[in-house]
Amino acid sequence: MTATTTSSQHRALAQSLADINQQHLLTFYDDLSERQRAALLDRIAALDLDETPALIKKYVVTDSGSPAFVPSRTLDPAPYYPADCESAQRPWDRASFLLAGEELIAQGKIALFTVAGGQGTRLGYDGPKGCYPATPALGKPLFRLLAEWVIAASERYNAIIPWYIMTSPANHEQTVRFFEDQNWFNLDRAHVMHFQQGVMPSFQMETGAILLDQKDAPATNPDGHGGSLRALHRSGALEDMRRRGVEHLSYTQIDNPLIKAIDPVFIGLHAAAPDSSAEMSSKMVEKTLPEERVGVFCLADGKTSVVEYSDLPDKLASQRRDDGALRFNAGSPAIHMISVDFIRRLNEGDADFALPFHRAQKKVPFINLETGKRIEPDSPNAVKLEMFVFDALPFAHRSIVLETPREEEFAPIKNKNGADSPATSQALQSARAAHWLEIAGVAIPRTPAGDPDCTLEVSPLVAMSATQLKEQLTQNPSKIPTNIAPGDTVVIEP
Ligand code: UD1
Repeated sequence: MTATTTSSQHRALAQSLADINQQHLLTFYDDLSERQRAALLDRIAALDLDETPALIKKYVVTDSGSPAFVPSRTLDPAPYYPADCESAQRPWDRASFLLAGEELIAQGKIALFTVAGGQGTRLGYDGPKGCYPATPALGKPLFRLLAEWVIAASERYNAIIPWYIMTSPANHEQTVRFFEDQNWFNLDRAHVMHFQQGVMPSFQMETGAILLDQKDAPATNPDGHGGSLRALHRSGALEDMRRRGVEHLSYTQIDNPLIKAIDPVFIGLHAAAPDSSAEMSSKMVEKTLPEERVGVFCLADGKTSVVEYSDLPDKLASQRRDDGALRFNAGSPAIHMISVDFIRRLNEGDADFALPFHRAQKKVPFINLETGKRIEPDSPNAVKLEMFVFDALPFAHRSIVLETPREEEFAPIKNKNGADSPATSQALQSARAAHWLEIAGVAIPRTPAGDPDCTLEVSPLVAMSATQLKEQLTQNPSKIPTNIAPGDTVVIEP
């Protein structure tokens, strides 16, 4: 950019910023080098300034807590397909949905979509969370586990399964470099696409002023995993899917090493169940403690929705049924199927579509406008706004929920210690492997408390389910150890 274009862009932006009372973003403009000036102007221009005043009014300078959550007139537990398809509660034809799902995969109509733009602050890991060594024996990174799912399912169904990965400006380069360093985990890189989610400005809590992170950069934060629905469109990923004939995305978060990333039964139910509009479907795990930090599936004014744990009133969270189970027991492990047409409709067709923002108060470092010094605040000083992907559920005409047993599919890594930590996740990964091996007829040493007295790891490349592990034991007995002693570490790899 030449100095002349910079100065005309400067004049235009200065006016737009003054119109919305954010002119302070140019406080240090005159002190900057030509290159820094151009960078600052580009960074400001990339923000959606038009929507800013209304957002500040609605979400930032407000005392109403979490204005994204508007309590519905009626809130009931959402119905779901029980994990046991023979359950008297709601029997369903698992075999036919399995076939329907397998057919869609074999036809190349399914892609994997992983959101991995989060900052992983709670884990205290310095790097993209997908690079975190997650498995109990080999410490495989989360990205590798998902890559193994893509390879295993592609081979089993003789199909291409493209993988779309959403990153954020904070971790994009590191993520792509990791894929390169790891030789793309043996995937064909022509079928892997990384793209970045959008950002939102971070606002000073009391005034709504956009903070300056550096003299030449406004403070921003990723726009939440809900931002994926517009980023899929803006990045060209949706167009790529159209060219490939991809119809449905298996949506996964990066933090759950037990996820069945390509699950034909879930795909089949989403696409073919009579009460599904094949737009957006979800899995649930049973929530047993009212205080567990998972969103719950509800019928809000008749529409399937997730109410986030922080929004569900305590009184409702702890209500119990006659059988003692929580009334709102359908916890969200954040696993969805989403159709490409639905995402396109939300982006292009539906004028009323806008995901609400959720407000979080955070500590955000900023440049003091008087001294020019960067301040690291000790207490929350800023509001960050994020969108949540599950807020798209009520836009679907009819949306189904499938129960998945927690021990089969949910062991998230979120915190450094305690609940949902690497230690709890690895114990659960080992426990699922033990369960699968026992189903295949292998004896597992157990502690008096019933936990596996050994460390076990099964690669998705060997088996994506207990049934497949049993098949392997029959077809390839030498690959599966049958003599496991207390304290052993056993890795089952191809
Ligand atoms: C989330 C869900 C919660 C669910 C739980 C299950 C939210 C707000 N809540 O909680 O309902 O029960 O998981 O584990 O999601 N991400 C991005 N970009 C962002 C923010 C997040 O890609 O801007 C990705 C992260 O990389 C991660 C996922 O979204 O893969 C989850 O984000 P996180 O903020 O950790 O959600 P939780 O609060 O743990």
